[in-house]
Amino acid sequence: MDLLFIFTAFVTISVIVQCDNLAQLADASNQRSINGHDNDPVTDETLKNTETEKVVVDIYYESRCPVCINFFVNKLEPEIPSLHEFLDIRLYPYGNAYTTKKGDQYEVNCQHGESECYGNKLHACAIDILKNVTKSTLFISCASDWYSDDKAVDECSKWLKFNGEPIKKCAKSDKGHQLLKYYGDESNKIYYPGVPHVRINGIHAPWNHFKENVCTAFKTPPPPCRENRNKEIISE
Ligand SMILES: *[C@@H]1O[C@H](CO)[C@@H](O)[C@H](O)[C@H]1NC(C)=O
Repeated sequence: MDLLFIFTAFVTISVIVQCDNLAQLADASNQRSINGHDNDPVTDETLKNTETEKVVVDIYYESRCPVCINFFVNKLEPEIPSLHEFLDIRLYPYGNAYTTKKGDQYEVNCQHGESECYGNKLHACAIDILKNVTKSTLFISCASDWYSDDKAVDECSKWLKFNGEPIKKCAKSDKGHQLLKYYGDESNKIYYPGVPHVRINGIHAPWNHFKENVCTAFKTPPPPCRENRNKEIISE
């Protein structure tokens, strides 16, 4: 009897804690005023997440293309608070750039010029340094909205409450260049006619129906998807 009570109380508290986290994230995405918690305790929730069905989302894009910015800000970021724990997001900040070999060096040319390459490097460095794809996705969406320059890093790191200096430093260093080259190699493994190019569980799924297409991909749709399910991926 006592044990049952303790167990019930524990479950109730777990549920409250989880909802509270989600509410914070939801709040953050709407208002860009996230309260960054870097050291959440490892709880039973973490263990439970290893059994959660996750959909793989590959996003090929570049920092300065207006449609990519639109995708991040209006399609992807709004779904992060409710869906992030059900997604395995992989970002490839390279897009329509191309890489050429000059002697023993590699040179990357970006569609929207050097400032776009710098923006891509900032994104790549954020992914590398933050080591948390939910956080890097929110950061990249915010930075894209600010044209992905140093000021964008200042604004968006302030919003997400972390130190943005290492990201700027990385983007200006050889590390940033190496990361951009790496994302070029990864992007060249597949063909895409334009960006943003979104793949859900490996299948091209047009960016403008992001939520519907993600929700369609689950074998067992998570709660946020219960109303947005189609029979198949919407193709345009
Ligand atoms: C990743 O970042 C998000 C958003 O800042 C945060 O809610 C989450 O707890 C972080 N995850 C880990 C494992 O630190």
